[in-house]
Amino acid sequence: MHSKLLYTAILRPILFSLDAEAAHNTALGMAHLLSKVIPCSKLQPPRRGERSLFGLHLPNPVGLAAGLDKNAAAVPFFASLGFGHVEVGTVTPLPQLGNPKPRMFRLPRDGALINRMGFPSIGADQVAMNLARARERLPDYVIGVNIGKNKETPIQNAKQDYCVALRKLAPFASYITINVSSPNTPELRSLQHGELLAGLLTALQEANALNRPLCLKIAPDIQDTDLSEIVEVAIAHKIAALIATNTTLQRPQLSDEGSETGGLSGAPLFPIASRVIREVLRLSAGRVPVIGVGGIGTAAQLNELLKAGVSLVQLYTALVFEGPSLVDTLLRGLEMPLGNRSAPAEAGDSHQARRTHAASS
Ligand SMILES: Cc1cc2nc3c(=O)[nH]c(=O)nc-3n(C[C@H](O)[C@H](O)[C@H](O)COP(=O)(O)O)c2cc1C
Repeated sequence: MHSKLLYTAILRPILFSLDAEAAHNTALGMAHLLSKVIPCSKLQPPRRGERSLFGLHLPNPVGLAAGLDKNAAAVPFFASLGFGHVEVGTVTPLPQLGNPKPRMFRLPRDGALINRMGFPSIGADQVAMNLARARERLPDYVIGVNIGKNKETPIQNAKQDYCVALRKLAPFASYITINVSSPNTPELRSLQHGELLAGLLTALQEANALNRPLCLKIAPDIQDTDLSEIVEVAIAHKIAALIATNTTLQRPQLSDEGSETGGLSGAPLFPIASRVIREVLRLSAGRVPVIGVGGIGTAAQLNELLKAGVSLVQLYTALVFEGPSLVDTLLRGLEMPLGNRSAPAEAGDSHQARRTHAASS
């Protein structure tokens, strides 16, 4: 049976009969088991729209966004779906449970989710062990590690948390994402502004002994004037890429009930995120790469953002609704720039990529 039909006709109805987080845990449990048996030959993502970015070589521009595989339990499975990179996390330095359940809600008519997970994490030490195992199977694969702070850590001490997580996880990470944009950890988003942001980025660059590319992930709920400040601070602190955007606290018109507290992701986020992505592209004017994320679920949306100038895209929520064949569908629909149609794409900075990966593994 065609894999899309297998998902929509059989697997999705079973998963959607469960509450959203139970479905997530069931699917991730299966992905974890499959990760152990997937043959090496299936771990080579399709080369389409190949590119290099901050010294890493990416076989294609479509990645898995943070939040799905928070603890790096199933990276080989996601690589086998065709994702050109996987971002794990958010990982906190110490283990924590996250917010009370229920904390994840499906909006099926909107193709959306609302979540207020609050960074459940097995902690940096355990995730480092999972990543070490993943690296045995995927020595050269681009794995981003998204880091955050523990809930109990006061915001003034947040940078210590980020630095601990960086030091523990950098040996296994191709790049690190600094998450200052989740709406579900009190005050976290204040780290996106002014002195707090500058202090955090300075501390992280100083702690970045392995010289990993540091990316900054931002929220879609930022005033344009603040956005300009964030872009300038990021560039001044040599951020490798801006990842726009996280989930939104806004509630655009929805068909389903959208009254749960938390961040909205999926189809209704696309116009909101895409406006912010374009604004970040305009403000940064090529001085820092932009990774676009937020509601992407079709090849048209993927192509639209790539044409606008993003270097990579990431997605999460559309995978829940469309199933694992989505990555293949998107890559087949990827429009290759003229002059780039027959041969797979831009020459990578393979020397630096090799250096980075050798250090990673
Ligand atoms: C259930 C859930 C949990 C998430 N957890 C995280 C997280 O821990 N860290 C993070 O940076 N983003 C997290 N995200 C945000 C996604 O990475 C992404 O930025 C957002 O969902 C928009 O993309 P999408 O519409 O393709 O899902 C989460 C999203 C969802 C739906």
